[in-house]
Amino acid sequence: RRREAPAGDARRGLTSTPKTMLPKYFYDARGSELFERITGLPEYYQTRTELGILRRVAPLLVDRVRPTVLVEFGSGSARKTRVLLDEMRRAGRLEGYGMLDVSESALRAAAERLVRDYAGLAIECLIADFEHPRELPFPGRRRLLAFLGSTIGNFEPDAAREFLRDVAARMEDDAFLIGFDLVGDVERLLRAYDDDAGVTAAFNRNLLTVMNRELDANFDPEAFEHAVRYDEREARIEMHLVSRERQVVRLEALDLEIVFEAGESLRTELSHKYTRRSVEALLEDGGLALDFWETDPDGRFALGLARRR
Ligand code: SAH
Ligand code: AVI
Repeated sequence: RRREAPAGDARRGLTSTPKTMLPKYFYDARGSELFERITGLPEYYQTRTELGILRRVAPLLVDRVRPTVLVEFGSGSARKTRVLLDEMRRAGRLEGYGMLDVSESALRAAAERLVRDYAGLAIECLIADFEHPRELPFPGRRRLLAFLGSTIGNFEPDAAREFLRDVAARMEDDAFLIGFDLVGDVERLLRAYDDDAGVTAAFNRNLLTVMNRELDANFDPEAFEHAVRYDEREARIEMHLVSRERQVVRLEALDLEIVFEAGESLRTELSHKYTRRSVEALLEDGGLALDFWETDPDGRFALGLARRR
C-alpha cells in the first residue's frame, strides 16, 4: 500500500477548485488491464496508429541513434516497445532495456514476457513516478529514451516542460523518442475517450476505486458520470467524473470530507493534442530540439526524436 503520496496528492486535488486528481492513480492492476483493453478499441486509434509509424521508422531510428539500450517511461505492457527492441537486436546492438512505471503489475507481467522472449537481455525495472526521475537506468551507455502513447500529453503544460528539462539534464549522447497525438477532428478525438463499450468510462471510474482502497474513502463510482470535453484553446481532451447528485465523500485516511454538488466535476485527466509547431516549442522550452518527425498518412499521430540542444 502506497499511502503517503496519494494522501498529499488527494488532499491537494480534492480541496482545489475545480477538483482534480492525478492520472497516475488510474493505474493499479485493474487500471492497467483496462488501459490495455482501451488500446484495442475501434475508437482508440492512437495505439495502432503509433505502432504503424514505429514499424515504418524503427530501422531508420536505430541506424540514426545507434543505441545499445532502450529506456522507456510509462512502459505499461511494453508491446509496442518490441518493435524497437527487435530492430536493435537485428542490428546486433541490443544489450539492455530499462522500464519505469508506477504500475507494479504491468511492469512485472511485461518484464516476465521480455525475459522469456529476449534471451540475454539485461532488464532494469523501476517502479517509480517518472515525473521527477532521479536517475535513469544504464548511465554511460548510448541510450534511446522512449515515451510512447502520447503519455506526455497527460502532464500539465508546466509539468511537461519540467519533465523534459529533467530528462534533458540526464541525457548525454542519448536521443529521446516521444509519441504525440495530434490535433484533428474533434468528434474523432471525443469518441476515442468515450467508447461505445464503456471501457474508458470504467477506466475513469477505477480512479475512485483506487482512492477507496488506498485512502479508505467511500466514493460510490456509480454516483459519478464519465464525461469528456475538448478544450480548443488548450488543445486538449479532459476526462471528468461528474457527480450525479449532491454527495459527501469521506476519506478516512485523510480525516477529510469532501462535498460534491450535483453536476460538480472531478477532473481526472488532461490529454494534450499537438502540432509539429507546438511540439517544437515544447521541446525548446525543455532544452531539446526536434531531430526527426514522422506521422501516419492521415496525420493523426506523430513520433518525434529529440536531442539535447
Ligand atoms: N507506453 C504504453 C502505456 C501508456 S499508458 C503505451 O503507449 O501504450 C501510461 C503508462 O504510464 C501506464 O503504464 C501507467 O502505469 C504509467 N504512468 C502513468 N503516470 C505515471 C507516473 N507519474 N509515473 C510512472 N508511470 C506512470
Ligand atoms: C496514457 N494516455 C496517453 C492515455 C491518453 O490517451 O491520454 C490515457 C487514456 N485515457 C483515456 N483513454 C486513454
